Amino acid sequence: MAQVKLAKVRKLYGDVVAVHGVDLLIDDGEFIVFLGPSGCGKSTTLRMIAGLENISSGTVHIGSRDVTSLEPKDRDIAMVFQNYALYPHKTIRENLAFGLKMRRMDRAEIETRVNSTATMLGLEPFLERKPKQLSGGQMQRVALGRALVRNPEIFLLDEPLSNLDAKLRVKMREEIALLQKEVGTSMVYVTHDQVEAMTLADRIVIMRDGHVQQIGAPLEVYDKPANLFVAGFIGSPEMNLVDGRLDGGVFRADELSLDMPANIVGAANENVTLGIRPEHITIGDGPNARTFRANVIEQLGSQTLCVGSVGGQPMRVLMERSDTVTRGSEFTVSFQPGRLHAFATGEGTRIDATNQEERELIAS
Ligand SMILES: Nc1ncnc2c1ncn2[C@@H]1O[C@H](COP(=O)(O)OP(=O)(O)O)[C@@H](O)[C@H]1O
Ligand SMILES: [Mg+2]
Repeated sequence: MAQVKLAKVRKLYGDVVAVHGVDLLIDDGEFIVFLGPSGCGKSTTLRMIAGLENISSGTVHIGSRDVTSLEPKDRDIAMVFQNYALYPHKTIRENLAFGLKMRRMDRAEIETRVNSTATMLGLEPFLERKPKQLSGGQMQRVALGRALVRNPEIFLLDEPLSNLDAKLRVKMREEIALLQKEVGTSMVYVTHDQVEAMTLADRIVIMRDGHVQQIGAPLEVYDKPANLFVAGFIGSPEMNLVDGRLDGGVFRADELSLDMPANIVGAANENVTLGIRPEHITIGDGPNARTFRANVIEQLGSQTLCVGSVGGQPMRVLMERSDTVTRGSEFTVSFQPGRLHAFATGEGTRIDATNQEERELIAS
């Protein structure tokens, strides 16, 4: 096990910058998730850690070793790909053993490791089968097993669950979380699915267009998104975002006006985008009480999502299950000042005057 350190890691394809310079220190045993939309540079960054892509500039250290120009096989990493990349003509046992054989490991040691990995993943019944005789979930487990038997310094996984159906994806997600805690090896996991990121990560690295947007624990990025992009990307249903302006201590957008908390008012008289999560709008009377009009009702089972408007502004409200709310219903909602977010119009950075230092850091 080891720390992994990326310093100003950049990737150019011709003169197109795919990754603009990533600084990241991954702690021993940490579960890091790279999250962002397709094309934002997640796989490229992962592949630079693996050594599958040349690093245009910057350095990668694994433990005390500078691995920047080392071949993948010399980095002591194990990677799991989306398409599993199993050998179709080899048995599961041979698939698990292959990497170790290539490294000329002692035969008895290989057998011990393959057997204990198969036990850990519940693969014993399938060891003499070929990959095509397995289900998708079982193949995914073999792909994980092939990484596990290697006992590497770090696991790298690139969208490992995206070929599985929704139910199996949740099950495998839980297995991966358990497994990682059990073996205690650092893991870097790439996904575009914010739920996967929130549930798995110790820390999430949110990327967009080759730039890191924010690095933080799941609830940190949920509670204090650094900018509009993160605010919109983390959380489901999405945060409500309303363009308007701060005027004295009040946010105004057409007919909607809301009293704002001191930490936002401190940076007053700016054009801002207001943010409030659907689950943070309170049903009933309270501070900033307004009338909500529902246009669409989505019954989710344990909760009800109402899509409608407040003061002429589109707004989604997520509430405890309601059997009575219908299309056209009007009811009172309130906006607790402490639940409101504000982002500067334009660059989209979070406005939080109580933490000016943090704000400058994000803007720089
Ligand atoms: N071999 C390549 N040649 C040129 N451009 C590439 C190559 N691989 C990836 N890119 C570009 O780099 C950017 C980041 O890609 P990638 O890391 O695969 O994104 P992600 O994994 O986040 O979907 C994209 O714009 C993609 O088109
Ligand atoms: Mg990718």
